[in-house]
Amino acid sequence: MKPSDKVLAALNEQVGMELAACIKYDAIGAHFATEGLPRLAAYFFKQATEERGHAHRFIKFILDTGGRVEIPEIPKPPHHFKFAKDAVKLALEGENLVTQAIHNLMDLATGEKDYSTANFLQWFIGEQVEEVATMEQLLKVVERAGESGLLLVEDFVAKGGGGALAGESKEGD
Ligand code: FEO
Repeated sequence: MKPSDKVLAALNEQVGMELAACIKYDAIGAHFATEGLPRLAAYFFKQATEERGHAHRFIKFILDTGGRVEIPEIPKPPHHFKFAKDAVKLALEGENLVTQAIHNLMDLATGEKDYSTANFLQWFIGEQVEEVATMEQLLKVVERAGESGLLLVEDFVAKGGGGALAGESKEGD
């Protein structure tokens, strides 16, 4: 069943949000690379790849249901951060916004009894719980370490940060 025009518009908006997250994480990764923090850089570059994967899941779903893909304009991300925690905070804020957007989409789909879209969105609801938790954990560690302790954060990320932080591939990414 093809989603309604309203649902399709919201799905296309979500493609834009996922691509915006992708380029934002590339910008954050590039910032960390410039600052001599290669593990944090690699972590965010990997997150960028995951976000592109999310965008493609939405694109494929729109196409599979007979909809038309229209990618919205993507805003330019910030490239400079005074403190490492500012970059991670930006990432966390973005993940919270994406979570809200996915929940709004789910409300829209279920309100229209669009079970195909609701079923598709279910994976993202779980994924967002994980992504927000991971970014909150990284922010706590960066704040505890402080600017002078960022090499400890590098070590933490390199070791997997308790399992979630190394950006290990998850099923379906
Ligand atoms: Fe695809 Fe992290 O939002």
